[in-house]
Amino acid sequence: MKKVYIETHGCQMNVHDSEKALFALSDIGYEAVADPVEADLILLNTCMVREKPEQKVFKRIDTLKHEQIRAQGKRSVFGVMGCVAQAEAERIFDRSRDVSIVLGTQSISKLPQMVQQIEQGFSRSIDVTLTKDADFFEISATARQTNQIAYVSIIEGCNKFCSYCIVPFTRGRERSRPVGNILAEIQGLAENGYKEVHLLGQNVNSYGLSGRYRGNLPTTFNTSQSDQVTFARLLELVAHNCGVPRVKYMTSYPRDFDQEIIRVMDAEEKLCEWVHLPAQSGSDRILKRMRRGYTFQAYMDKISFIRAAEKDYSITGDLIVGFPGETEEDFLETMRLVAEVEYDGLFIFQYSARPNTAAMAYEDTVPEKVKTERLMKLIELQNRIQQRRYARYLEKTVEVLIEGVSAKSNDEFTGHTRCHKTVNFPKGESRLGDLVQVKINRAGKNSLHGQIL
Ligand code: SAH
Ligand code: SF4
Ligand code: F3S
Repeated sequence: MKKVYIETHGCQMNVHDSEKALFALSDIGYEAVADPVEADLILLNTCMVREKPEQKVFKRIDTLKHEQIRAQGKRSVFGVMGCVAQAEAERIFDRSRDVSIVLGTQSISKLPQMVQQIEQGFSRSIDVTLTKDADFFEISATARQTNQIAYVSIIEGCNKFCSYCIVPFTRGRERSRPVGNILAEIQGLAENGYKEVHLLGQNVNSYGLSGRYRGNLPTTFNTSQSDQVTFARLLELVAHNCGVPRVKYMTSYPRDFDQEIIRVMDAEEKLCEWVHLPAQSGSDRILKRMRRGYTFQAYMDKISFIRAAEKDYSITGDLIVGFPGETEEDFLETMRLVAEVEYDGLFIFQYSARPNTAAMAYEDTVPEKVKTERLMKLIELQNRIQQRRYARYLEKTVEVLIEGVSAKSNDEFTGHTRCHKTVNFPKGESRLGDLVQVKINRAGKNSLHGQIL
């Protein structure tokens, strides 16, 4: 067997693409290795949502190359895939002479062919085609992250063009995957013992709303519904037709997140109590400049119906600080939003200008120092909130899927609750992949600790 080492940066979509790439390469005799020194082929799956991850790519190639030379290991073929590959295309060859393969986000099925070209002596191979109807969903991914949790793509690409965001340029237009294929994949995963699936998409709530495929129902699945499949219907179909005990999804786009989704989630046991709903800002003026399509109040209305639901949902989000033109007043609106929502988890990013995006034209940039101060203030506020949110679980019993051995102690397992919180607990008689009831006895601000009942 030839050996491939693949390193993944960025979001879950990239993680899943790496799984697909490994599967595609297994067809031409490649197996995955954990040590780059041994690899015949090194692939970097890249992210460019902010500047830092983008800059890392070329440094990382250099480091890996020198590690190989030092260890007198193999001289690998280097390939760059993912969002930087898509956006930078041929320019990658100019920036690093070590790269032989550039693979765009919709080209994974071409990877084996491209690798073979290099093996036959070609010096470079590139494919960065973006089409409206790329049917690349149907590449299997046999090697998953863990044996318990599997990612399943349901929609790819983005049509929203938020003014700061590179994703529509690197992932192309929105395409919803045919519902029958999604259900079949999840059924297969259930038969193979998977306990949890994460339905993935840049905007899962836009499922079936746009793109070539309109989400009509296949006749093979037992359902009385004959209307077009929206995201809420899809969740219901997954819950009714597939044997996987726990279903999570991300990311939700606030404008398209409707009450019907919560109604379905309340009604279906398998749909877990977690919603990732990024607000990005609390200021109406900034939200408008970001082209997000909602106001502070419209966002809070969504939060209200989630809080009023039957199940106790955990809400997480993303925020950007220092967007061009963000004043102290705008920032205070974001602080107010965070205080009112009471998130269970929050990713906060400093704005980073991205090529081709509309916000590149805005000149009123916020100084780095101010961005950092705002970031720190938000982190401090969120830490206090999170401490409180986690303390709610003390003495309560939660269901945990056992995913691995705890990083802190070999005698403990780690896993996630249905509301997606990390829990550590003594192993006892339990085994990896079990769904266990754990009584919480300690609460930090990022994880819980407990005892199996
Ligand atoms: N589709 C999701 C977001 C995907 S990108 C949504 O609409 O909410 C993941 C996160 O990266 C975003 O939520 C945003 O907070 C952050 N992000 C995107 N572009 C950014 C930029 N130019 N600067 C800083 N953060 C950015
Ligand atoms: Fe980016 Fe906006 Fe699309 Fe999210 S919805 S991926 S932030 S353009
Ligand atoms: Fe990054 Fe591309 Fe995901 S830019 S966040 S890897 S869609």
